[in-house]
Amino acid sequence: MKQIKTKIISNRLIGPMCYHMVLEAPSVARAIKPGQFIHVRCSDSFEPLLRRPFSLHRKNGGRIEILYKVVGSGTEILSRRQSGEAVDVLGPLGNGFAPKLSTLNSQLSTILVAGGMGVAPLVALAQELSKKKTQKLRVLIGACSKSRILCEEEFRALGAEVSISTEDGSKGAKGLITDRLNFLLSTLNSQLSTIYACGPNAMLKALSRIANAKRIPCQVSLEERMACGVGACLGCPVKVKAGEYKMVCKDGPVFDAEEIAW
Ligand SMILES: Cc1cc2nc3c(=O)[nH]c(=O)nc-3n(C[C@H](O)[C@H](O)[C@H](O)COP(=O)(O)OP(=O)(O)OC[C@H]3O[C@@H](n4cnc5c(N)ncnc54)[C@H](O)[C@@H]3O)c2cc1C
Ligand code: FES
Repeated sequence: MKQIKTKIISNRLIGPMCYHMVLEAPSVARAIKPGQFIHVRCSDSFEPLLRRPFSLHRKNGGRIEILYKVVGSGTEILSRRQSGEAVDVLGPLGNGFAPKLSTLNSQLSTILVAGGMGVAPLVALAQELSKKKTQKLRVLIGACSKSRILCEEEFRALGAEVSISTEDGSKGAKGLITDRLNFLLSTLNSQLSTIYACGPNAMLKALSRIANAKRIPCQVSLEERMACGVGACLGCPVKVKAGEYKMVCKDGPVFDAEEIAW
C-alpha cells in the first residue's frame, strides 16, 4: 500500500451524475488487482475530512481509472477536479477478486453480475479474465432504466456476451437482474459456473441465495461506508456466518457470498 500524489489525466461526465476519472499512478497501477480499491482525498482541504473509496475500474499502463457516481459532498468535489491537478491516493487497498481461472475446461462459464455502479470493478475483472481466453465470459448489467446502463460496449470489446435488464423495461429485458440470472442459469450447466457480482446489497443478497441454491461459487464485492480504509478504526463491519464481524476494507471488499450472514 502506498500514499501517493497522482495526476488527473481526465475527469469526464459519462452518464447521469456519473464520471470517469483517469489518474497517472504508476506505482499503484503496478500493484492493484481487480476488486481492490483506492482511498481518495477528494479535496486539498479538510472538507470532507475523510477519504472516499473507489474500486479499480480499469488499468492501462501506469494509469488507473475509476468510475464514480456523484452522491454527496466528496464525489461532488471530485467531479469538479480538473485535468493536471494532483489527487492524494492511498492504495491498493482490500483483497480483490480471486478469479478461478481454468486452463483445462473450456466449458467453464464465468458470469459477472453488475447492478448500477457495480459495473465499476467488474470491468477490471473482465479485463483480467479476457486475457486467459479459456472461459466464456457472460455479463449481466442491470439498472433502473436505460440511461443508467454503463460500460456495455467496454464489456463487449473484451469479448463478453452481454445481457441487459432494466426495471422500467427501457432497455433489454424488463425486470430485475436476478430474474435475468435465473434465466441464464436455466440454460447453462451451472455446476461449471462462477459468479462475480457487485451492486446494491439487496441485489447481492438475492443473488447469493440463487448461487447457494444451485451450489455455484459466488464472490461479491461489498460497499460499506469507510473511514480509515485499512482495518484500524473498525468502522466498516460486516457480519459473517461464523457469528463474527469482518472489516469490509481489510478482509474484503470481496467475500465469498456464502460467508456473509445476509
Ligand atoms: C470498497 C468500495 C468501493 C467503492 N467503489 C465505488 C466506485 O467504483 N464507484 C462509485 O461510484 N462508488 C464507489 N463506492 C461508493 C463511494 O465510496 C461512495 O459513493 C462515496 O464515498 C460517497 O462519498 P460522498 O462524500 O459523495 O457522499 P456522502 O456524503 O458520504 O454520502 C452520500 C450518500 O451516499 C451514501 N453512501 C456513502 N458511502 C456509501 C457506501 N460506501 N456504500 C453505500 N452508501 C454510501 C450515504 O449513506 C449517503 O446517503 C465504493 C465504496 C466502497 C466501500
Ligand atoms: S474503514 Fe476503518 S476498519 Fe474499515
